[in-house]
Amino acid sequence: MKQLSILGSTGSIGRQCLSVVEALPGRFTVAALAAGNNIEELASQIAHHHPELVSVADAHKASELADLLRTKNISPLPAIHHGAEGMLAVGTHPKADIVVSAAVGVVGLPATYEAVKLGKTVALSNKEVLVAAGELVMAAAQKSGKELLPVDSEHNAVHQCLRGGTHRVSGAALTNSQPNSEVKRIVLTASGGPFRKSPLAALARVTPEQALAHPNWKMGHRITIDSATMMNKGFEIIEARWLFNLRPDQIDVLIHPQSTIHSMVEFVDGSVLAQLGPTDMRMPIQYALTYPERAASKEIALDWTKLRRLDFQKVSTRRFPCLRLAREAMRKGGALPCALNAADEVAVAAFLERRLPFLGIAEVIEKVLARMPRIKFERMDEVLAADLEARRLAREEVNRLAPAVVAAS
Ligand SMILES: NC(=O)c1ccc[n+]([C@@H]2O[C@H](COP(=O)([O-])OP(=O)(O)OC[C@H]3O[C@@H](n4cnc5c(N)ncnc54)[C@H](OP(=O)(O)O)[C@@H]3O)[C@@H](O)[C@H]2O)c1
Repeated sequence: MKQLSILGSTGSIGRQCLSVVEALPGRFTVAALAAGNNIEELASQIAHHHPELVSVADAHKASELADLLRTKNISPLPAIHHGAEGMLAVGTHPKADIVVSAAVGVVGLPATYEAVKLGKTVALSNKEVLVAAGELVMAAAQKSGKELLPVDSEHNAVHQCLRGGTHRVSGAALTNSQPNSEVKRIVLTASGGPFRKSPLAALARVTPEQALAHPNWKMGHRITIDSATMMNKGFEIIEARWLFNLRPDQIDVLIHPQSTIHSMVEFVDGSVLAQLGPTDMRMPIQYALTYPERAASKEIALDWTKLRRLDFQKVSTRRFPCLRLAREAMRKGGALPCALNAADEVAVAAFLERRLPFLGIAEVIEKVLARMPRIKFERMDEVLAADLEARRLAREEVNRLAPAVVAAS
């Protein structure tokens, strides 16, 4: 019986993680859960899974949750923590064997980092952790000798394909410091999002509702907008660089509208391994939780009769400038990938609040990247300080562009 801590238990990945736990009775128990503001969902998770400790966004939500649990007569009551300390308490819970990192954005970074340092098995969905602080987090993983298990479907696919090489997976073998000499390149597939075919001129008028209508996946708001701009794929390139110790030029992206091939590895002998599956995040979540075993699943299956074709197409960086910005930030390194993520988070929130046009997201990020000081991170507090500074710059840039939106609307 493995014990889990979940950071972001009320989100799309967090809830699917708990449904995997429920589908595999007797394998997992839940030690601790961290959520943000959705205390109704958290209360029902507590009633089902009886964690010892939970955390919510702030003190106010913590007292609301305590009242709600008493009203619903839920017992035993878990210890209720909040804020950054609460996330840390969940990520470092002494009983947790596996920490599922599924919060969104940099809020999940310190707790994930501490879990890695403690040598816990970390199932990583929160890609912003590696975007903002890849070098520090991977150094900690190497030191602890524990491999990070990717939940993101593309990286999960690459992880599975890499098991077809001689770099057989045991302990920290995949994420070691030596480049994998068998791999020529990896190809991350991308659905292309809802605007893959839209006329370029129409992108200026895109609404949040249109951008949130992802053709293949049902996910949280931030990642759905990041998929529409393809910043999500930019983040994934950075994530892959750290997870698999690859050079930037070894990571390609191809549009594959069906999202059936989740990604591919091309080996030096010309052989290409691809991983296929339904668009169902429970599959990579379960893989990470049960790794290195595979557990039977009654619900997850690819319906081959509905699979008529597999299409591939190159990505246009004119249509998706965020992809170019992500590669630039990765190449320059230092604080720029961290700023890329922070600026994107601020710009996406402003777009969802209708304070910024869709095309303004890339514009804000580009301006922030140009204004960020060049520093190399040595410690986590430097990452968090750079994150705050990039957010401040991004808010300035959003405000600079905002009058234009008001005038246009
Ligand atoms: N969804 C997918 O299919 C998918 C696929 C691949 C990778 N990912 C990655 O997985 C991560 C999670 O994505 P998601 O789609 O599950 O996001 P989501 O649905 O928006 O959920 C985010 C989670 O983080 C919590 N959270 C947000 N702000 C918080 C704060 N200040 N303090 C504590 N908790 C906070 C939320 O709590 P409340 O809801 O309670 O406020 C929620 O539990 C992201 O990094 C995303 O890129 C997601």
